[in-house]
Amino acid sequence: MSTIKPPILLLLVLFMFSACQHDIINSPNAVIPDTTIIVTPPVGGGGNSNLASDTVCFNSEILPLYSSYCGSAGCHDISSHREGVILTDYARIMNGIKAKQPNNSAYYTIIGHGMPPRNSPQMTTANLATIKKWIDQGALNTKCTNVCDTTVFTYAGAVQTIISNNCGGCHGAKPGTANVYLGDYASTKAYITANPTIFSNAINYKATTASKNMPQSGKMVACKITQIEKWIKNGFPQ
Ligand code: HEC
Repeated sequence: MSTIKPPILLLLVLFMFSACQHDIINSPNAVIPDTTIIVTPPVGGGGNSNLASDTVCFNSEILPLYSSYCGSAGCHDISSHREGVILTDYARIMNGIKAKQPNNSAYYTIIGHGMPPRNSPQMTTANLATIKKWIDQGALNTKCTNVCDTTVFTYAGAVQTIISNNCGGCHGAKPGTANVYLGDYASTKAYITANPTIFSNAINYKATTASKNMPQSGKMVACKITQIEKWIKNGFPQ
């Protein structure tokens, strides 16, 4: 797997034990090429043939997790940047990620160990596995545009994960930011049924106030919006 020689590995391990968490987090950024790699779709045959069929997409899988669970207002967004940490774009997320070295990636290892704060919504083990896989694959700025199966639009089959990954950090625990709670099937259905236009405008980036476009860090990829809309149109299938 890794080409790191044992003595260097030992040094890295010693460094990890000797440095406190904040030293690791604020350590100077290694030079990471910020090249966007378009993957459309990331399945065999299509798009960039150098990439494996299971390439994790930074734009649609990783950024939403960091933005939602770490990048909310008052925490690690552009204007709050608590402890100098901003987690709402690729370059800044890479300040705490070492490609192919998840265990040396402070922004990976800290998840579930102090961050997000204990009373905030937490990422799932599936979320952590996705982040680890992305780091193992080289932590590339992969941008996928057409990566979901829009024939699948049940809550359990698609919508639950989309909402949890993209909205869960702010609306996944009661009462939810702005009193919008989207943490389970019944509550999500009830909110959308009562506020169909507000919800639709929010996810389509058509809200009259920019701050009400959701998620605020950037519009979801089109096929995920389609899956949510089909779910609503078809009567919220479980
Ligand atoms: C990083 C935190 C964050 C994330 C992630 C997030 N929201 Fe929000 N949401 C907010 C905030 C803050 C407001 C209040 C905005 C305002 O009033 O200007 C809000 C308000 C809303 C509203 C009410 C808008 C209105 O006009 O009253 C809806 C609906 C909503 N969010 C849905 C979502 C959905 C759906 C997602 C995921 C696709 C999402 N949000 C992701 C923080 C977030």
